[in-house]
Amino acid sequence: MTTKIIVLAAGKGTRMKSAKPKVLHHVAGKSMLAHVLDGVASLNPVSTTVVIGHGSEQVREEITHPVEWAMQTEQLGTGHAVQQALTGIDDSDKVVIAYGDVPLTRPETFAALHDVCSNKTVGLLTVFMDDPTGYGRIVRDADSRVTGIVEQKDATAEQLKITESNSGMLSIQGDHLKDFLSRIDNNNAQQEYYLTDIFSLAVADGLTIETVHPQDEWEVAGVNSRVQLAELERIHQMNQATILMDNGVTLRDPARVDVRGPISTGTDIEIDVNVVFCGTNTIGDGVRIGANCVITNSIIGAGTVIEPNSILEETVLGESCTVGPFARLRPQAVLADNAKIGNFVEIKKANIGVGSKVNHLSYVGDAEVGNNVNVGAGTITCNYDGANKHKTVMEDDVFIGSNSALVAPVTIGKGSTIGAGSTITRDVDSDKLAVTRSKQSEIDGWARPQKKKVDENPQQDIFKKVG
Ligand code: UD1
Ligand code: CA
Repeated sequence: MTTKIIVLAAGKGTRMKSAKPKVLHHVAGKSMLAHVLDGVASLNPVSTTVVIGHGSEQVREEITHPVEWAMQTEQLGTGHAVQQALTGIDDSDKVVIAYGDVPLTRPETFAALHDVCSNKTVGLLTVFMDDPTGYGRIVRDADSRVTGIVEQKDATAEQLKITESNSGMLSIQGDHLKDFLSRIDNNNAQQEYYLTDIFSLAVADGLTIETVHPQDEWEVAGVNSRVQLAELERIHQMNQATILMDNGVTLRDPARVDVRGPISTGTDIEIDVNVVFCGTNTIGDGVRIGANCVITNSIIGAGTVIEPNSILEETVLGESCTVGPFARLRPQAVLADNAKIGNFVEIKKANIGVGSKVNHLSYVGDAEVGNNVNVGAGTITCNYDGANKHKTVMEDDVFIGSNSALVAPVTIGKGSTIGAGSTITRDVDSDKLAVTRSKQSEIDGWARPQKKKVDENPQQDIFKKVG
């Protein structure tokens, strides 16, 4: 049997109070719909059809997954939504239906739901809830066989006491799905075509409803408001933090680390509070990351220390480097082992060689820095002429005196020294001292200007200062 997926995502999400379609709101740096599409991708479906309606243009623009789109121009209910996605469904297909606003279902749960589906069986993902308010309730007979689902708004007082709730997710063979959907109506409290009505039809036709349950309730939690979005984000972050700790990472406070994307970690890593990981990151053994760092799409070698308040984006750091505090490493900053980037230093598109140091208040961009180079405080690579970027090369063992401007394109030869305060506009050969600052002069007996006498009226003096 061929697996096909239908994801419902046409709803407006009124309670989000947003110009953005609900399914595009993010959990852990990724849209809810992208989470769902990544989750169902583990079933290796031959196709995934997403039903869209509200904000469909935005959804199509943002989602890059290989999906088919089905339009539902009027939201007449979940059953009606699935009807819009039936074009590519064949009779023998195994169809799994998921929801674009239920982002955190585990792949294992999708797999279990998928696996129970057969010619004779419809799969249904249900969960027992302490408070099932708002959810459809699972109705069972005396032998505890599922006989149907009743929506909150259509339920009797007795049915409202049922705690087994409908997640909405189900698996069903294509021919059954098409047949049952052609027979549902909207004679109910909400005058909607309920997808849930297919279950009583299935039972009447002699099919069995097999329920599967998620390992955790949050797997079926949908988002209808920003409060629920924040709740799910926290649950997800605590799960991520737990995985990190289980893998040998020390978190000073598991409630104050955010992981927004895949992260791979070695052992004995220490992460202080308020660290945010975005995109895909790889952190080596023994790395220490100080408070308030934001680390995006980076690879950090073993033993490297990131001091507090540093921002790293698309960087590759060797082993035993030191970065920060207050460093900013921009895309394509590549540090070799034992490199040191100090406070208020910005590095962009530059290779920094083994053991080289850029310790304070510098900008190094579009540069090739050799091994054992020392870049003094306040050094700037003048890489941009207003139209184009140019490269600065500092060969091995170069020493750049403080407050130097290196006007690119320029090469400082191996072992050369640049005197502090120089503006270097031409290449410097190896083993030279290059200085461009004006010579110091001294004036004998220079008398400093004297401060004028203070006014006798102190009140007036204050006004003078303010004015
Ligand atoms: C639905 C289920 C309910 C279940 C609950 C779980 C039905 C009738 N009820 O209720 O049993 O407990 O989900 O969260 O199915 N959608 C469309 N087009 C529509 C209507 C909905 O695409 O015309 C999409 C929504 O965008 C959303 C999903 O379907 O992603 C669920 O719709 P929603 O209106 O939230 O259903 P509930 O009333 O919560
Ligand atoms: Ca809902």
